[in-house]
Amino acid sequence: MPNTGLKKEHMVDYAEYMDLRAKLEHTPGFFHYYRFAMEDLETRFSMLNEYFSLAGEQNPIVDIRTRLKTFDSIFEKLKRRGFPVTVQSITENLYDVAGVRVICPFIDDVYRVADTLLKQEDIVLIEKKDYIMFPKNNGYRSLHLLIELPVVLPPGRRMIKAEVQLRTIAMEFWANLEHKMRYKRDMDPVLLKGISDELKECAVISNELDRRMQQIHYRIEGEEEEE
Ligand code: GTP
Ligand code: MG
Repeated sequence: MPNTGLKKEHMVDYAEYMDLRAKLEHTPGFFHYYRFAMEDLETRFSMLNEYFSLAGEQNPIVDIRTRLKTFDSIFEKLKRRGFPVTVQSITENLYDVAGVRVICPFIDDVYRVADTLLKQEDIVLIEKKDYIMFPKNNGYRSLHLLIELPVVLPPGRRMIKAEVQLRTIAMEFWANLEHKMRYKRDMDPVLLKGISDELKECAVISNELDRRMQQIHYRIEGEEEEE
């Protein structure tokens, strides 16, 4: 047999890719469920933010961002993780088809917002990944919630998975720069190592900044109460 290993592999992938795409097209409302789950979460967070500001407290959220994973990115993740390339496999294995990111001023806000969401009775927590308490090796910090929430559409009521990332402004600033580096694939390895090391140092500084700002905030709040 001629040496067509790589090509054959690509052909197999291509067939799977087309097959999954066709199957999704015949699954009514597949992406709608995820989009509504995402929009539902966005509304819950903005209501929560508004509620706190009406109550005379400082807004615990400065920004809410949503993103729906593209078909290509879904396919790529199924392959990368070795999951079956089927519609059922997406709904069972992928938590980040619907993604919501919540940016807060202070670390305390991150936990307060997360706890308030999780108290809502129709939200099911599957996993909490606390990369603030336990940062990743590269310095990444954020609180991730893998959850399920009900979405009702004409085909029926379904529990839809979503990934919520909560982080401070400082964590967001750091993660965006680190993400930029991560996707520069053709970077010189020596340069890459230098940047990674420096980013790690910056993560430590950013953590220190977050904690000091939080302490200053407590002191200011304490003063206000005494007045
Ligand atoms: P993914 O396959 O990337 O979804 O990772 P995972 O399933 O192991 O979950 P994890 O909690 O590690 O990451 C989920 C998401 O968090 C990622 O898709 C990123 O958006 C974000 N994230 C995680 N780690 C990092 C990191 O080191 N740097 C940056 N910039 N973002 C990260
Ligand atoms: Mg992801």
